[in-house]
Amino acid sequence: MTYFEIRDGVMHAEDIPLPRIAEEIGTPVYVYSRGALEAHAQAFRDGLKDVPKKHLAFAIKCNPNLGVLRVLARQGYGADVVSGGELERALAAGMAAEDIVFSGVGKTRAELAQGLDRGIGQFNIEHEPEGVALSEIALAKEMTAPAVLRVNPDVDAGTHAKISTGKAENKFGVGIDVAPEIFDRLSALPGLNMRGIAVHIGSQLTSLEPLEAAFRRVGELVTDLRAAGHSITHVDLGGGLGVPYKDDDNPPSPAEYGAMVARVTRDWDVTLMFEPGRVIAGNTGVLLTEVLWVKPGASHPFVIVDAAMNDLARPALYDAYHDFVAVRPTGDKMTASIVGPVCETGDTFARDRVTDAVQPGDLGVFRTAGAYGATMASTYNSRSLVPEVLVDGDRYVVVADRIAAGTIMAAERVPDWID
Ligand code: LLP
Repeated sequence: MTYFEIRDGVMHAEDIPLPRIAEEIGTPVYVYSRGALEAHAQAFRDGLKDVPKKHLAFAIKCNPNLGVLRVLARQGYGADVVSGGELERALAAGMAAEDIVFSGVGKTRAELAQGLDRGIGQFNIEHEPEGVALSEIALAKEMTAPAVLRVNPDVDAGTHAKISTGKAENKFGVGIDVAPEIFDRLSALPGLNMRGIAVHIGSQLTSLEPLEAAFRRVGELVTDLRAAGHSITHVDLGGGLGVPYKDDDNPPSPAEYGAMVARVTRDWDVTLMFEPGRVIAGNTGVLLTEVLWVKPGASHPFVIVDAAMNDLARPALYDAYHDFVAVRPTGDKMTASIVGPVCETGDTFARDRVTDAVQPGDLGVFRTAGAYGATMASTYNSRSLVPEVLVDGDRYVVVADRIAAGTIMAAERVPDWID
């Protein structure tokens, strides 16, 4: 079932016609489907049916909206967080502290203390000094921090360079070659309960091979650590599974991913932890926008929409592809560049693309915008912060307000010593 489909010539999110949201809330606006979120959460869990002991922690960086998190909390998901702010969101959304995993390459001492005070389930340690600091902070609180060591397996994830994390030159984790000695030293610290290993090699992976290669290296490390006398009970396999952005994209399904994981980890005898983000949320949301102008260009016209790179940064940052479709498609097509109003050439969603024909006043959507969309929005060019709507059948709620440029300006001041 698809949750964004054309009915009677008009695109709906579940049972809500998108023009109704545009009229009542204005554009640009992110629109999420609760049904799609639940279906994807279930599909990922089903894919792991042959993994006996597992823990699912939604990577909330991809969509930290409280309404979205509450849906996933009800599906039994915990959270993978990377900041104190994300930690508080996960708790506010009703996720249990023990179901929260704290990743993040530069946690502050204050954030480590916050994680301990909140009683989170696991710290993913990025390097030795962080582990030493965590042990000291835990000891001072007469606590023991449950922790795993993140390793960098030196595997090329085959994805965009800016979202690859598992090559030796990337800033994440410790080299897998030096992991045993670091693990030895961290295990000896009284404030830590070193219980396993974590790995995450990148995002939007469209092949299982690099994941399998990384997991096999982790499996060898687990064997070595056990041989050295360590008790390894948890392995965190991170996130990274890609999603289709185009109709003919064909990334591995959660079922294929799960079958690979079950095969590779069969003899590990650990609780496997997962940090899926995009695969849960990516195709559960669209960015709804209105066409402002159609302007002639050198080769093809520019379709100028009211969404911009500040609302959806992925095309500008990663040359990412997001499908653009009309909310009331006529069947006619046009070749155009789709651009936003921001004063940068990088504010281009699509270049010379064959797309649904649109005119000023028409509505369109950028698809696959449920992950790394609203959360990466800014107010660049003094634009408003884009709002978010969650649809559930024939009802919807604004789950994040539009924050007006004036509200942002109200938090600024001119020093009185500038006359
Ligand atoms: N775990 C860790 C440690 C991560 O760093 C990430 C993503 C995830 C899990 C979730 O990965 P996913 O399942 O969503 O692929 N802004 C970029 C993506 C950045 C990903 C950062 N880390 C984008 O828009 O493509």
